Amino acid sequence: MQVVYDTLTGNVRRFVQALCAEWPAPACQVQSGAPDGAFLLVTYTFGTGEVPDSTRRFLQAHAAGLRGVVASGSYHWGANFARAGDRISAEYGVPVVAKLNKGGTEADRRAVLDWLRSNHGPMD
Ligand SMILES: Cc1cc2nc3c(=O)[nH]c(=O)nc-3n(C[C@H](O)[C@H](O)[C@H](O)COP(=O)(O)O)c2cc1C
Repeated sequence: MQVVYDTLTGNVRRFVQALCAEWPAPACQVQSGAPDGAFLLVTYTFGTGEVPDSTRRFLQAHAAGLRGVVASGSYHWGANFARAGDRISAEYGVPVVAKLNKGGTEADRRAVLDWLRSNHGPMD
């Protein structure tokens, strides 16, 4: 399964780069167009608990392949922490695989890798 990500200030990109060192499927940014098939979306939270417009536009066109979401945010935002993940989960009926504070931790990376490995092969 592919990893598709959206990032503004680089936290998500750093997480995805570390993830893909151990998950040999292509990662691409939402701006690069259509994914090949099933994908895990890694995005961030913007506004007040909102999904970034760039992620929203991508999902409007390509939600068919969406299998799960990882959302980044900051603990600073309290109840709205990584809320983009909850919104996407509710709207598209997919699991929130992890919520990351900023670029996430080693434990977050392990949890996401476990989910990828138990759900799909790299080329599914
Ligand atoms: C204008 C703005 C609004 C934000 N709103 C939220 C929010 O509502 N909830 C949250 O958890 N994080 C919020 N954040 C924090 C980002 O989601 C967080 O820094 C994230 O790691 C950014 O990912 P990126 O570096 O890949 O762009 C906000 C950041 C900015 C700049």
